[in-house]
Amino acid sequence: MQCSKCQTENPENKKFCRKCGSELSLTCPQCGSEVLSDDLFCGDCGQSLKEPKEASPIDYSEPQSYTPKFLADKILTTRSSIEGERKLVTVFFADVASYTSMAEKLDPEEIHQIMDGCFKILMDEIHRYEGTINQFTGDGVMALFGAPVAHEDHAQRACYTALSIQKSIGEYGRQLKRDSGTEFKMRIGLNSGPVIVGAIGDDLRMDYTAVGDTTNLASRMESMARPATILVSDHTHKMARDFFEFESLGKLEVKGKKEPVEAYELVKASEIETRIEAAQAKGLTEFVGRQGEMEALKEAFDKAKAGSGQVVGIVGEAGVGKSRLMLELRRILSKEAYTYIEGRCLHYGSSMAYLPVLDILRSYLEVKEGDRESLIKKKMVEKVMQLDEELRGALPPFHDLLSLKVEDEEYLRLEPIQKKEKTFEAIRDLLVRESQVKPLVLAIEDVHWIDSISEELLTYLIKGLANTNILLILLYRPEYVHTWGSKSYYNQVGVDQLSNDAISAIVQSVLGGGEIVPELRELILSRTGGNPLFVEEFTQGLLENGSIKKRDDRYVLSKEISDIQVPDTVQGIIAARLDRLEDNLKHTLQVASVIGRDF
Ligand SMILES: Nc1ncnc2c1ncn2[C@@H]1O[C@H](COP(=O)(O)OP(=O)(O)OP(=O)(O)O)[C@@H](O)[C@H]1O
Ligand SMILES: [Mg+2]
Repeated sequence: MQCSKCQTENPENKKFCRKCGSELSLTCPQCGSEVLSDDLFCGDCGQSLKEPKEASPIDYSEPQSYTPKFLADKILTTRSSIEGERKLVTVFFADVASYTSMAEKLDPEEIHQIMDGCFKILMDEIHRYEGTINQFTGDGVMALFGAPVAHEDHAQRACYTALSIQKSIGEYGRQLKRDSGTEFKMRIGLNSGPVIVGAIGDDLRMDYTAVGDTTNLASRMESMARPATILVSDHTHKMARDFFEFESLGKLEVKGKKEPVEAYELVKASEIETRIEAAQAKGLTEFVGRQGEMEALKEAFDKAKAGSGQVVGIVGEAGVGKSRLMLELRRILSKEAYTYIEGRCLHYGSSMAYLPVLDILRSYLEVKEGDRESLIKKKMVEKVMQLDEELRGALPPFHDLLSLKVEDEEYLRLEPIQKKEKTFEAIRDLLVRESQVKPLVLAIEDVHWIDSISEELLTYLIKGLANTNILLILLYRPEYVHTWGSKSYYNQVGVDQLSNDAISAIVQSVLGGGEIVPELRELILSRTGGNPLFVEEFTQGLLENGSIKKRDDRYVLSKEISDIQVPDTVQGIIAARLDRLEDNLKHTLQVASVIGRDF
């Protein structure tokens, strides 16, 4: 049963959520009204709740039947604003390798069962990353990422989904092999490109028209993938290459295409998860502007250092430079002067309870991926006890948080709500105690994606921050709304667009030495609206597609301005931003925005 507050899955017989302690509410299978776990009948329609109604079997031809409620709601609330629009998406195809030969050996009932298990895996993973399934074929699926729900990172989501599916199908296949000797593997293919979204019905069915060969190429990638692998086109590779490891297969002959096309096998996710990490890995451009913002942050740090805890919100649109500002602050503060801990919220993580908190705890304890339970517990005891033996009581909730076995009987006997209180206290005590050793800078990245229980914990921490040596920095985009503004020790640092001079310096830094002709500079300035990410991507994109050429130590445009396109990565961010805006405002923006005129 899913907790309506923090979305954690709980065992069916539980009354309270094991992660956030909220009472678990059920819905009546007949009318959908909320009922409590010990109700015998629904108070609205009288349906008996003792014998839960058998879940009706999934109808794979009806999107309503297989789309989870949270996603269906999202689609229906945003549909009016995207019907008729051109959207950049990643198209996902998966199908069973050697299905025909499997079907020849097994009877229809067995096939049906096997495919049911397979479809469940596909649905779970695709929906987890908010992809939508357009169609189940007999032996596979076609899904879209980026429409009807817009995601700036549709290619990344599709890649994570594909990797998770291959992992789960790998296990499923091994089990089938053991049980019945059946070989079961899937092929996956991805391509990114534009589609025009048509009508979206109440039944969630979406009409769309592929532009060019967006869908076809994805399907070709799938049919050319080796069993158990993922093949992606050049377009998807370009959008996801910073975050995954790919193996180039060179140019492949593709049916229906005159020219051979580049293809890449998706191998695994890289350690890089965020854009700023990717920018660091590639080499940062020169840091420009932001003197005022930096002063405000330094001032907040000095106050925290002097014992007056501070909360600072670094607020600005995607790509405007929030994370970079944080990075530069860390560079100018002397390393010895403070302890730094960072927690991160993820774009697909708002349903994962305590996600940034786990991040904080793991990095504080220096827990690595793959560490055994005994080692994690050892690290924890050493680190926490060394800090302060009084913190012993924090160990059971920390064990619980990190899903380690809890042995403390007293803690185990607590009601969920009390466990939650203990967890909050334990985190607060640890952070406050640590800040007494050295001022503590605690940064939470991308708070606009925070899960509800972590948000509750943040509010709890902020309440008790006034007389500590903690500087809590929250980075988020303007659409995030919170209630902390009223605190006297809360300050907001708005990060806005950069000046033309600052932007010109970034362009120079991307291109390297050489004069930039005014026409090119003007083009970049006018198309990127003072946003440094757009500037980097746009300039890089023009270099890669040959629109910028270096002639006699001068960077010049080699194409007509009207032929120049905004790169896919930038379009994706703008599209996702537009989708969150009110219809009217969006329309005005689309008409007015210089960038918007390209799609
Ligand atoms: N002041 C600056 N000078 C030079 N480059 C900058 C500046 N600010 C940001 N950049 C560059 O722009 C890119 C985007 O910045 P950053 O990742 O900090 O954006 P963000 O606001 O955190 O976006 P998001 O909301 O997506 O996390 C990075 O490559 C960064 O190095
Ligand atoms: Mg950022």
